[in-house]
Amino acid sequence: MTAPQGAARGAFGSRIGFILAAAGSAIGLGNIWRFPYMAGENGGGAFVLVYLLCVLGLGVPVMLAEFAVGRRAQKNPIGAYAALAPGSPWPVVGGLGVLTGFSILAFYSVVAGWTLDYLWKSATGVFTAGLSAADSAAVFTGLIADPGRAIGLTLVFLLLTIIIVRKGISAGVERASKILMPLFFLLLVVLAVRSVTLPGAGRGIDFLFQADFSRVTPRVVMGALGQALFSLSLGMGAMLTYASYLPRDENLPVAAVSVAFFDTMVALVGGVVVFPALFAAGVDPAGGPGLVFVVLPTIFDQLPGGTLFAVAFYALLAVAALTSTISLLEVVVSYFVDQRGWSREKAVWVMGAACFALAVPSALSNGAVEGLTELVTFGGKARSFLDLQDLVFGNYSLSIGALLLCLFVGWKWGTRNALDELRSGGAHELPLAGLWVACVRVLCPVAVVLVLVSIVLGD
Ligand code: PHE
Repeated sequence: MTAPQGAARGAFGSRIGFILAAAGSAIGLGNIWRFPYMAGENGGGAFVLVYLLCVLGLGVPVMLAEFAVGRRAQKNPIGAYAALAPGSPWPVVGGLGVLTGFSILAFYSVVAGWTLDYLWKSATGVFTAGLSAADSAAVFTGLIADPGRAIGLTLVFLLLTIIIVRKGISAGVERASKILMPLFFLLLVVLAVRSVTLPGAGRGIDFLFQADFSRVTPRVVMGALGQALFSLSLGMGAMLTYASYLPRDENLPVAAVSVAFFDTMVALVGGVVVFPALFAAGVDPAGGPGLVFVVLPTIFDQLPGGTLFAVAFYALLAVAALTSTISLLEVVVSYFVDQRGWSREKAVWVMGAACFALAVPSALSNGAVEGLTELVTFGGKARSFLDLQDLVFGNYSLSIGALLLCLFVGWKWGTRNALDELRSGGAHELPLAGLWVACVRVLCPVAVVLVLVSIVLGD
């Protein structure tokens, strides 16, 4: 493999390494925690259908655009816009991405901390005692309302992330996820089989796959659009940054389609695990961010070897979350290393600490501190500081970032340059290139603007 221009910045060690790292970034709590709760809150099947359309029509084109920009520029998001459009205001878009990555990391690591607690709980047998939905909800509430534990676990998770990102693009993590992620998927499939064979499970499948179009409101579309971007790690420059560590002989279209495919499979199978079990246990689908944490423990004790299963599941979920937090911190760190001349060591610790500071109010906002728990109302429900962070950065900021990236590639840097970059990894005969150009220049921007405007005007 030829060394990339920016070899001093580090580079991926192998061809498969990049796809694994990108898939590792994409697959995480977004699939297992966020997708089910968003689908549950937004009416199920109709949301899922719009989500799938967003993955195909917006996710894949935007991922290609991020890959092209990142690999051409070989820089962090801010540096990339500056390199491809010198002297223009476009780097501000990269700056929005870095800020968004930082803010997502701050609430994501709180939820990731919960998975560590659940790992501990399953190892100590808490989930094998015939847990009812009410018991399970009480266990969850007990955890999230405990300030010491919520903050401590967030800190542990951030430290794990820092230790890995500190070493640079990490071969060890790539290699480990080659085995761990297929194993995670296998476990999910087993759980899905158990879930669909529970009494009353059929209603969950209906909920997930029967689309009731009367429920498609601008808010549902906005949720699905944001979820597609969040789940694929798009709209803030994570994929852009990963592609910046690539040599020119990587086939970008193959990578984009594979990552989108695997990510979507994990989300759908995750949905098939959660919803049948949810209906079987009589939990409310619109239960919000605690959904999977309440539902999943109710099925482990209905499996032979439940403890082992639960331990393996939460361990792998934590690893999946870790490969995502690594990509979030990497974006922030690459900016301070490339643009500000900081050492990687300084960047990981300073930014990691700053992120922890922002994570504390999220960690405290689920029952520990009342003022943070019911901070705002949207969608007819009181929401916490964590929910608000998730909405603002996980939905809106990513959507605006993706919109601006499309405009940049479509109209400023140019789709001709981008196509040249996309073709230069063996994809000479790029099928649907014309359609991609239409998406990036017109269809995606118009779609995002329409959804944003209809949200502003109210639904
Ligand atoms: N895609 C990750 C997940 O689904 C989260 C993420 C979002 C990571 C944005 C990087 C950038 O868990």
